[in-house]
Amino acid sequence: MSIPVNSQDNLKNPDREIRRASVPPALEHVQEQQQQRLQQLGERSDPRGDLGEVLDRLDALEQQASDQIRRATSAQGLEQLRISLLGKKGGQLSRVLGAMGALPHDQRPLLGQRANGLKKELQGLLSERLQQLEATALTQRLAEEVVDVSAPALYRPLGHAHPLLSTLDEIVTIFCGLGYQVVDGPEIETDHYNFSALNIPEDHPARDMQDTFYLAGGELLRTHTSPVQIRHLERHTPPVRVIAPGRVYRRDAVDATHSPIFHQVEVLAVDEGLNFGHLRGTVIQFLQAFFGELPVRFRASYFPFTEPSAEVDVQWQGRWLEVMGCGMVDPAVLEGLGLDPERWSGFAAGMGVERACMVRHGIDDIRRLFSSDLRFLRQF
Ligand code: DAH
Repeated sequence: MSIPVNSQDNLKNPDREIRRASVPPALEHVQEQQQQRLQQLGERSDPRGDLGEVLDRLDALEQQASDQIRRATSAQGLEQLRISLLGKKGGQLSRVLGAMGALPHDQRPLLGQRANGLKKELQGLLSERLQQLEATALTQRLAEEVVDVSAPALYRPLGHAHPLLSTLDEIVTIFCGLGYQVVDGPEIETDHYNFSALNIPEDHPARDMQDTFYLAGGELLRTHTSPVQIRHLERHTPPVRVIAPGRVYRRDAVDATHSPIFHQVEVLAVDEGLNFGHLRGTVIQFLQAFFGELPVRFRASYFPFTEPSAEVDVQWQGRWLEVMGCGMVDPAVLEGLGLDPERWSGFAAGMGVERACMVRHGIDDIRRLFSSDLRFLRQF
């Protein structure tokens, strides 16, 4: 860019003043020469090695550089500009000063002074522009990254256990507190474990109430958790105290109180000298821990694998509700396992988890526990 030698800008420029006004007396003749040269500038096509011409090129560089600095839009661009202007090797200022060698000795200090002034000025402009750019970038970042402290918090519901599982957990916790161990058995069972070993031979009428789903190989989906009693006693010699929670299956049509898939918890204790009093004490202890201090009653009943057998009711909101079956392990079952019924005795109980959950929470329809309706589940 070419600019008038005596533009307003140049007159205001302190370096220019150094050149025009504060020239040491010894160099006054240089200044005169220079003014002459400046006038001649337009006429001379190759004024190389001429002080005035060099000074004019510095003026032009000053103008061009300050424009470029002002227009720089990034710190990176500014750094490139600094290198191209002030770089020691090949920088524009160094290139203009290359002409210094061609000048007479007495002219060099003036040029040196001017060049230094220009260098300082450009450094000042560069750092000022850098600060501006950084400040703008910061303001922009602050505007973009604004944190709205009044915005509602991000909310992801944590969820919670299904009421059926929390009921199961609670039952397990109570029995663990009574010294029982949790054991497991397969959901696909054999006829032997599900029926025969529990004193329910083929054609026994008790099988009618426990029709189930039979698999091709003759296995079946277990109808209760009682087979775990047999499996456990086959592998563990008494004394045992175990509970076996799990899923069971029956060929039942779905209605408000029936589901073909449901859950039970089996309880088994075998030891020397266990009697009905132990069963009763254990059951009452559990029911009061689970339901609270409610009246409990034992009703005589029948299960093929216990003798005597009983059904247990709790008085819940003015009504007697049946909550579990239980009894003393039938000697025939112990004998089948090779255990001497004269020495060992035991008690067992089985309860439905859905039933316990429904009574506890006042749920009127078992289907609600399996429909995954969040409006229902969120209540627990
Ligand atoms: N297994 C029985 C059922 O599903 C429940 C039951 C009754 C289990 C008495 C027992 C028991 O261990 O002693 O109907």
